[in-house]
Amino acid sequence: MRTTLARVTVLGIVALAALTACSEREDSSGDASAKGFAKDALIGVALPSKTSENWVLAGDLFTDGLKEAGFKSDVQYAAATGTVADQQGQIQAMVTKGAKVIIIGAADGSQLSTQVEAAQAAGAKVIAYDRLIKNTKAVDYYIAYDNFKVGQLQGQALLDGMKSRKAEGPWTIELFAGSPDDNNSTVFFNGAMDVLKPKIDAGEVVVGSGQIEFKQVTTDGWKAENAQRRMDSLMTSTYSGSKTLNGVLSPNDTLARAILTSVKGTGKDLPIVTGQDSEVESVKSIMAGEQYSTINKDTRNLVKASIEMVKTLQAGEAPTVNDEKSYDNGQKVVPAYLLAPVIVTKANAAESYANDPTLSQLTK
Ligand code: BGC
Repeated sequence: MRTTLARVTVLGIVALAALTACSEREDSSGDASAKGFAKDALIGVALPSKTSENWVLAGDLFTDGLKEAGFKSDVQYAAATGTVADQQGQIQAMVTKGAKVIIIGAADGSQLSTQVEAAQAAGAKVIAYDRLIKNTKAVDYYIAYDNFKVGQLQGQALLDGMKSRKAEGPWTIELFAGSPDDNNSTVFFNGAMDVLKPKIDAGEVVVGSGQIEFKQVTTDGWKAENAQRRMDSLMTSTYSGSKTLNGVLSPNDTLARAILTSVKGTGKDLPIVTGQDSEVESVKSIMAGEQYSTINKDTRNLVKASIEMVKTLQAGEAPTVNDEKSYDNGQKVVPAYLLAPVIVTKANAAESYANDPTLSQLTK
């Protein structure tokens, strides 16, 4: 019943939840709450290393929010090096301590099957947070901003930004993707290419270096220095002469700033550069007219929605999902609850961050 419930759409949830409540009351055990767990149960949160500000924020928000909801929590980050083994050990320890739900922002989404299978075998629910966990059936839910949409918004922003500087194409660009061990990197890239590829095929947009395949443009570990190194070498190999670089697809803010630093070092005009995460330094850069765009994926809302999911599971009910087709992890299509990302440029920054006490200060 639980599995069936997880697969229905949002609209059907309310009706079916009521139905479940009835059948649970008629259950021979006579105890509907037996299907949930204690209100002060331990909830584990395993996050990757702090490769961007959103992870730092998420950890603090989970610690406070789970406490406020009455749960015990164990919030851990993977170390900056030895990340995978570190996170595997942390999840295993959460299982041993009897966590009832384990929320995981995967360091490497394809290397956690042993740990999440152990979690499920011990009766815990597993929620993949922000990044999908791959190649295992032992993932109950996925909660994230709509990653494909993030990519589409980035692709469109790149085109819009370039057009605002030079009305007619062709425009010359370079492509960057995130770390290949993060499932999101492919989804962001595919979303962006959904918008850019038709323009490339039509000759309106030209990838100057010719490096157009995902595997040619990834950035190991989402590390700024890796993006900067690749940009430095592109500037030397492709743009040392008179060729103009109009735009760079950057998958997040940390990499966007590294790319801008690299171009600044050459003294050439700055291209349109996209981003993601609404990091403080990037919002400043956007307001200063350097980075062109970012994405607002308010971490507060994602953590809040995750804690709501935990509360629903505690009550023995089926959490709301709104996508049951997009996130095939190789073993199952993971029922997902997706939030909508928002593109931010200088033009709508004040409006986009109006509710954010830190970022609203930067857009005045
Ligand atoms: C997240 C991005 C983040 C990146 C690097 C991705 O999985 O979705 O928001 O920029 O990881 O930390």
